Amino acid sequence: MRKILHIISRLFGAERAYSLSVGMLRLADRIPLVKWLLHSIYAVEDKSLEREVFGLHFRNPIGIAAGYDRNGEIYGPLSALGFGFVEIGTVTPRPQQGNPKPRIFELPTDKAIINRIGLASKGLEAVIKSVRKGHEGIILGCNIGKNTVTPPEEAAMDYLRVFRNLYQYLDYFAVNVSYNTTHKQYVPRTREDIMKILEPLFDFRRGQNQYRPILLKISPDLTNEEIDLMTDIMVDTPLDGIIATNATTHPEGLKTSKEELRKRGGGAVSGAPLTERAIEVVRRVHERCNGTYPIIGVGGLMTGDDVKRMMEAGATLVQVYTGFVYNGVGFAGDLCKSLLATETPEPTEPTETADNQQ
Ligand SMILES: Cc1cc2nc3c(=O)[nH]c(=O)nc-3n(C[C@H](O)[C@H](O)[C@H](O)COP(=O)(O)O)c2cc1C
Repeated sequence: MRKILHIISRLFGAERAYSLSVGMLRLADRIPLVKWLLHSIYAVEDKSLEREVFGLHFRNPIGIAAGYDRNGEIYGPLSALGFGFVEIGTVTPRPQQGNPKPRIFELPTDKAIINRIGLASKGLEAVIKSVRKGHEGIILGCNIGKNTVTPPEEAAMDYLRVFRNLYQYLDYFAVNVSYNTTHKQYVPRTREDIMKILEPLFDFRRGQNQYRPILLKISPDLTNEEIDLMTDIMVDTPLDGIIATNATTHPEGLKTSKEELRKRGGGAVSGAPLTERAIEVVRRVHERCNGTYPIIGVGGLMTGDDVKRMMEAGATLVQVYTGFVYNGVGFAGDLCKSLLATETPEPTEPTETADNQQ
């Protein structure tokens, strides 16, 4: 299947291949038997993979990152493929098309994707219709953003509108302050600008019966000082965690030729070129908050070893996107298996005989 999608991607473009896979997963969503089959073939269940984070129970720590299930249409089959959680979105209040196509390209030499989608969302109303059917047994997060046309001074209202209307349906929210595929999008970087977005969300949550964790999704292109600032915001406010990182507009060491990149027309790079930077950002956040807050590590996790290194750097949970595109439908299960293989065995209780012998 992966090979077929890569051929389609090469012949008709990466977005066609993406649309085709979303189409197939949407079809699978309608047929419970197919979901059951996918689950029995691909999902890996084991007690030691389970995690309790932000008061939520995750059946494993491998999630699918924002941008794949943009409108909350395929979280059922994604979960059946073995993902421990799904982050839908980015959801904007009003529908928007994003940038003109083509806008997603695979860079196979670098095991990377370059995209300048610019947030394509069917909008809040469509997402409500999708998610109100429920998601029993699936941890469902929602990445929220603003419409491109909304001026920065009105950004907070857009985030609040999506948050307030989806609050009852989802398990956690990721505030996207990092999506910048064209250098033109608004990326708030100061404490004042970030707090303008977060405060209304905290205020709304205070009035609710149910608690929904709020996380901040940050860019790998922030300076170290800016990363520290984001971490300090987490420590000083009711923010529950950080998701690090989004794709980068400053990729380093790409093997794809400059000519090839110029042809593609630019955008943000995700996948293997991002691995080291994403791990570095997670380590910095983890050290700055003394390991007291949950971090979701994302960026260039292409192998089980990458996931292990990301967790050693301080990630409690991880997410993948490009690794899933390159490794195919069994990727979540493969990562779970590799976690099980490296899991340190629990210290065994001394047996009675051993006790007696001491
Ligand atoms: C085609 C594409 C679309 C994406 N769309 C979004 C999005 O809408 N919102 C968001 O926060 N991140 C988005 N991302 C970023 C991913 O969620 C992730 O942070 C990034 O790709 C790094 O992970 P990876 O190297 O595993 O792909 C997108 C990434 C790709 C490749």
